Amino acid sequence: MYQSKITGTGKYHPEKVLTNDDLSKMVDTSDEWIIQRTGIKERRQSDLTKDEFPSGMAYHSAKEAIENAGLEPNDIEMIVFSVTLPDMLFPNTASCLQDKLGITNKCACIDVNAACTGWVYGMTMANSLIQTGVYKNILVVGTEMTSTFNNWEDRSTCVLFGDGSGSVVLSRADDNDTAKIYDSVLSSDSSKLDALILPNGGSKSPVTAEILEKREQYMSMDGQVIFKNAVKTMSSHCATLLKRNNLTLDDIDWFIPHQANLRIIETTGQLLKCPPEKVIVNVEKYANTSSASIPAALHEAVIDGRIKRGQKLLFAAFGAGLTSGAMLLEF
Ligand code: UT7
Repeated sequence: MYQSKITGTGKYHPEKVLTNDDLSKMVDTSDEWIIQRTGIKERRQSDLTKDEFPSGMAYHSAKEAIENAGLEPNDIEMIVFSVTLPDMLFPNTASCLQDKLGITNKCACIDVNAACTGWVYGMTMANSLIQTGVYKNILVVGTEMTSTFNNWEDRSTCVLFGDGSGSVVLSRADDNDTAKIYDSVLSSDSSKLDALILPNGGSKSPVTAEILEKREQYMSMDGQVIFKNAVKTMSSHCATLLKRNNLTLDDIDWFIPHQANLRIIETTGQLLKCPPEKVIVNVEKYANTSSASIPAALHEAVIDGRIKRGQKLLFAAFGAGLTSGAMLLEF
């Protein structure tokens, strides 16, 4: 069996900043409420005239990840693209990204939708394909344009989300390399499908004039159900990974949880007994960018020098489904 390692990272966030004060002019909210309940100060919003839809944002983060891996676009043998609301229903967003990157080798392209957990699912699938020798270099992208399914008249959800992209190149490690993916765990609890849902716009319920009239083309969420399940599932998945790899939190250099909300991040850290100084947080700048949040936070911490080769990292995510996942690796 081969081992895989992260050889390159990249990220992209749209230029346009939407502050809490900007939102308080759109809905009945305040900077104080948003900061106290979520830790979020601002988020980025896509501009379609600047190609800031999923494959357009991913072009920038993927290009950076491929360059940082010391590779050329045509070295990529597969694109795994985590996205909740794709560029279009088909062709898939991964194929659109292949085109944008100028990849002409006809590499495999697949979209993954596991909501905010999608990038961890994608990394787990990519790792298996590298471990079994199928591919040597896989681009794993998480990119989300949450502003499309955000109801900008619903204060209980619209303050939480932002747009952005994060990419990683996962490559076959050299024989003498210690970097590897140790383990991952994935799950989904379908008993709570309604807790975070966008029921309209798919095959089951196409958008009609009536749906538009009632503004039901947007997501809805039971925030407290999501909160409780998120902290419980993420902490328990991390504990499972540590236990079955005979490690403790003392062995972990950095914990990168899904950047949904500062209170979720802090509570998960407390349940895990993870010292706050080991937790990577950037939710205050970008809000919840769904499956883009972990790869983008990873890239920031690699670029600013916090994350170094040889360090052990723990990722954890959760989202609609209710999906959840965690991954343990040496960078
Ligand atoms: O990737 C998964 C994404 N989802 C999440 O991460 C969400 C997880 N859930 C949460 O983080 C929290 O449940 C929220 C931040 C969404 C809400 O916090 P909460 O402490 O659960 O508040 P709540 O829903 O119980 O609402 C408390 C009050 C309500 O008013 P009343 O009924 O007490 O008068 C809400 O109407 O806060 C009100 N409220 C707001 N007030 C100002 C809800 N949203 C806002 C808002 N500004 N944006």
